[in-house]
Amino acid sequence: MPATVIVGLQWGDEGKGKTTDFLAEQVDYVVRYQGGDNAGHTVVLGDEVFKLHLVPSGVLYPHIVPVIANGVVVNPATLLAEIAMLEERGIDASRVRVSRNAHVTMPYHIAMDRAMESRLATAAVGTTHRGIGPTYADRAWRTGIRMEDLLDAAVLREKLTRVLADRNLVLREAYGAETFEVDALVDLAAGWGEQLAGKIVDTTDLIQQALGRGDFLLFEGAQGTLLDLDHGSYPYVTSSNPIAGGACTGGGIGPLQVDEVIGVMKAYSTRVGAGPYPTELFDEIGEGIATRGHEVGTTTGRRRRVGWFDALPVRFAVEINTVTSIMLNKLDILSGLPEVLICVGYEIDGRRVDRWPASADALAQAIPIYERLEGWPESIHDARALSDLPDAARRYVGRIEELAGVPIHLVSVGPERSQTIVRSVRPHPVPRHRP
Ligand code: IMP
Repeated sequence: MPATVIVGLQWGDEGKGKTTDFLAEQVDYVVRYQGGDNAGHTVVLGDEVFKLHLVPSGVLYPHIVPVIANGVVVNPATLLAEIAMLEERGIDASRVRVSRNAHVTMPYHIAMDRAMESRLATAAVGTTHRGIGPTYADRAWRTGIRMEDLLDAAVLREKLTRVLADRNLVLREAYGAETFEVDALVDLAAGWGEQLAGKIVDTTDLIQQALGRGDFLLFEGAQGTLLDLDHGSYPYVTSSNPIAGGACTGGGIGPLQVDEVIGVMKAYSTRVGAGPYPTELFDEIGEGIATRGHEVGTTTGRRRRVGWFDALPVRFAVEINTVTSIMLNKLDILSGLPEVLICVGYEIDGRRVDRWPASADALAQAIPIYERLEGWPESIHDARALSDLPDAARRYVGRIEELAGVPIHLVSVGPERSQTIVRSVRPHPVPRHRP
């Protein structure tokens, strides 16, 4: 069954958009299965740069149906703005489909997110303030608003009257924050429903029918494995499951319908928000990587934290996602460094640890054990085969591959699609579409 999952192996921002772009020729559907507008996908198409938060990057290709599945939390204001931006730039967004069951991020979720983070002060998670956690919390509490509710003002009124009584109480009494009026929110949400009506469908049925026909579906994870609600270093995580298993619950497929999992990682690491990060760099090497790599959050504009490549979480991510092959991004950013370091173990409480300890407490104690490899001074933007790379860069890729434990099939040496070394891709039997 031709369903491929693309998953981030680090803390997000690994460049999953480029992987989707690379495979787009073969793909009929691109499905987002979790997260919300906290995510930011940057796709470079020719001279144009598109920054997308909610709409799957497949929208940029006329033959692809972009699907926002049930596991995503949708801020309709963001979705509508993104659709308008795409249409303005000549991209047809009429094919976008959104699950009836996807939960809606309402203005009070954003207010709760801000208020809770500000109350936590120095212990804050460093969220994107997009209301993601409170929206998923309402889903779990069974007090959420779903996309299908936007189509019925009476249902909206009933649900909002019930939930706002509680949320306003907490916002006012616990946080001294702004509160919300039922009437205004019903009008706002029903207005969203009117504009999105033709796009709100049963995406599970859509996806199952497509799989039944033998279409090729790409399930695109947002964020990364180390931000997973269950398997990341809780509580410094997001409120959904970016891991490949999340494609099943959030996308409406069974585990045996996934036939390939492509893990995406950068040649170094970055993290946005708070939480332990053993290989973080605080010196000019980190500054240089951040500057050359444009490591600024697409959603928040925050400078990302930067560190050396850490093999422990990547090996963990390969296992937990059953990764079949890897795309290694941004190798070019390391050019010019006299040496490059790879973390191959930690020292915690005086003992060597070789496996990723997901516990935030253990990680906060971890002292990285590094292997030091020779750097390469040359630019590698024009490399199109591994043999075009300087020896030192080739050794770096080889060592990372060995530590990850699965083959690196694609190596990106620049932002454009052509700046990619293709070692091997498991080809779809017939290239279905030519862009
Ligand atoms: P939230 O998802 O806004 O609740 O934020 C929770 C944590 O996930 C914070 O550390 C955020 O910085 C991080 N996060 C959320 N979305 C992204 C992303 O797309 N890339 C990187 N980090 C993210």
